[in-house]
Amino acid sequence: MEGFGMPKLIISGRGGSGKSTLVTLIAHTLKEQKKRVLVVDSDESNIGLSGILGIEPAEKTLMDYLGGKPRVMKKLRSMIRDGETEPELFREKFDLESLSQEFVCWVGSLGLMQIGKIDHAMEGCACPMGAVTRDFLNHVRLEEDQWVLVDTEAGVEHFGRGIVEGADAVVMVVDPSSDAVLLAEKAAKLTHEADKRFGVILNKIDEETEPILTELLTSEGNEIKGVLPYSPAITKMNLKGESLGAYAVKNEVDEIIRELMKC
Ligand SMILES: Nc1ncnc2c1ncn2[C@@H]1O[C@H](COP(=O)(O)OP(=O)(O)OP(=O)(O)O)[C@@H](O)[C@H]1O
Ligand SMILES: [Mg+2]
Repeated sequence: MEGFGMPKLIISGRGGSGKSTLVTLIAHTLKEQKKRVLVVDSDESNIGLSGILGIEPAEKTLMDYLGGKPRVMKKLRSMIRDGETEPELFREKFDLESLSQEFVCWVGSLGLMQIGKIDHAMEGCACPMGAVTRDFLNHVRLEEDQWVLVDTEAGVEHFGRGIVEGADAVVMVVDPSSDAVLLAEKAAKLTHEADKRFGVILNKIDEETEPILTELLTSEGNEIKGVLPYSPAITKMNLKGESLGAYAVKNEVDEIIRELMKC
C-alpha cells in the first residue's frame, strides 16, 4: 500500500464526520512521537478545533496577518489583472520554525494556525481563504518528521478553491452514512484530477457498519487507510468541552499514522 511520504495532508469529509477529531488525535499522537506538527484550521465557519486540540488561537489569523480579507482580495485581483494566472501571496519558501508567532500558536512541537474566520455579515465570499491556504501550503517547506494537517470545512468546496493543489494528499473521513460514501466518491475523483493521492479513514464504525462501509468503498477502488471505532469517550469529552489528548483510541491512531507514513 502506498504511503503519503511528504505529509501535507488535507482532511476532508462531510459535516460532523469527525475531521477535527481525527486531526486532533493524529496531531497529539505525532507530538508524543516527538514530531513537529502544524495544524491548519481552514474552516472559516466552525470554531471548535482550537478547543478539542487544546491550543488557544494565536493573536491573528493568517488572513489578518496578510492585511485582512479586503486587502488580500484586492492584491489577488491586481495580480490577476497583471496576467498572473496563479497569483502568489508569498514570494519565498519558508520553514515551519520561521513562522511568526503572531499567527501560529505553538505548544511544544504542536502548532495551530487559523487561515481566517467569517466575522462580519456581508464580508464577501471565502474564495480568498482558499487562495491563501493553497499559497501557504505551496510555500511551506517541511523537513523530515514534520507534518502539516489541514482541517477543512464540510463538503468538497475546498477542492473548488484549489486548496488541494498545495497539499500532497487528501484523507477523507467517512462515517457510516450513504451521504459520506457518495461524497467520498466525488472527493476521490476530484483528488485524482488534481493528481494527488487519496485515502479513506472510516470513523464512528462498529462491528455491523464496518463491513458494509468497507465493501461500499473498496468496490469503488478506494484505499482504506485506517478505522476509528465509535468511542463514547470521544463524544463525552467533546460535549464537556474538554480537549482530546493522544490517548483516545490510541492503537487505531498509531496504526493510521503508520499507514500514512508508508512509502
Ligand atoms: N470516533 C468517534 N467516536 C465518537 N464520537 C466521535 C468520533 N469522532 C467524532 N465524534 C464526535 O462527532 C462529532 C463531530 O466531530 P467533529 O467535530 O470532529 O466533526 P467534523 O467533521 O470536524 O465536523 P464539522 O464538519 O462540523 O467541522 C463530535 O461530537 C465528536 O466528538
Ligand atoms: Mg470540524
